[in-house]
Amino acid sequence: MTTVLDGKQTANDLMIALKQTVDELKTKGVTPGLAVILVGEDPASAIYVRNKHRRADGLGIRSLQISMPKTTTETELLNKIEELNEDPTIDGILVQLPLPADIDEQKVIEAIDPNKDVDGFHPMNVGKLWTNMPQVVASTPYGIMTLLDHYHIDVTGMNAVIVGRSNIVGRPMAALLLNHSATVTIAHSKTKDLAKVCAQADLLVVATGRAEMITADMVKPGAIVIDVGMDRNAEGKLVGDVNYAQVAPIASAITPVPGGVGPMTIASLMLQTVELAKRRVH
Ligand code: GUN
Repeated sequence: MTTVLDGKQTANDLMIALKQTVDELKTKGVTPGLAVILVGEDPASAIYVRNKHRRADGLGIRSLQISMPKTTTETELLNKIEELNEDPTIDGILVQLPLPADIDEQKVIEAIDPNKDVDGFHPMNVGKLWTNMPQVVASTPYGIMTLLDHYHIDVTGMNAVIVGRSNIVGRPMAALLLNHSATVTIAHSKTKDLAKVCAQADLLVVATGRAEMITADMVKPGAIVIDVGMDRNAEGKLVGDVNYAQVAPIASAITPVPGGVGPMTIASLMLQTVELAKRRVH
């Protein structure tokens, strides 16, 4: 029997507990504050931002949604970040990626106060993660670890293969799995014989953005499969990076799309915003 790793339900459970923490913080005079900056009108980004805002609202986190036009200059964006860095009511700052092409993404990430960098993208937080002293961790990998933990899946000694080497998912995922004593391989678009590498995995995490690219022949029977993809197939249907119909019957556990990793990413963002806010309690 395959276990469907239900991210939606797990996130809902976690948020019930988190709501209590937020209520307690409020009695101490602290309302967690999250600022989300969206530059331009990328439709996928707009949906992500709206979902983050909704979840924050439900928890009683003050969420400041800052929409800036696509003509925004780098200086204007850096000034806005500086303002939020200085704002004592804001605990977490998130700049939705990708940014318009004429804005230097790395410069923007480095402008965020590392103590408010709720995405964990600042080099200081990346360094802390890789030295196994994590402070704030990228939300998607953090959510995946939380989901595995919720299902009592211990990755110690597992052969973990991650497909995708992005700063948002693949790399921080590798660091977290290594910190939890998995044996980690990062595969990517240039990997030779990808199918063979994937078929070695006890735990396969896929974050490529390529619809249904992981087929049954690439998966070891009994593997745990985590699908980070949110893609459209040829018929326009929302699918993951894994061919679910083929892979689910041979996996021991698998995340669905939607309802797997996505809700856990948002839950992680909320959890870490509240963690940052706790530092305001004296
Ligand atoms: N774009 C896609 N995923 C993310 C994320 O986790 N954080 C930010 N800031 N942008 C994203």
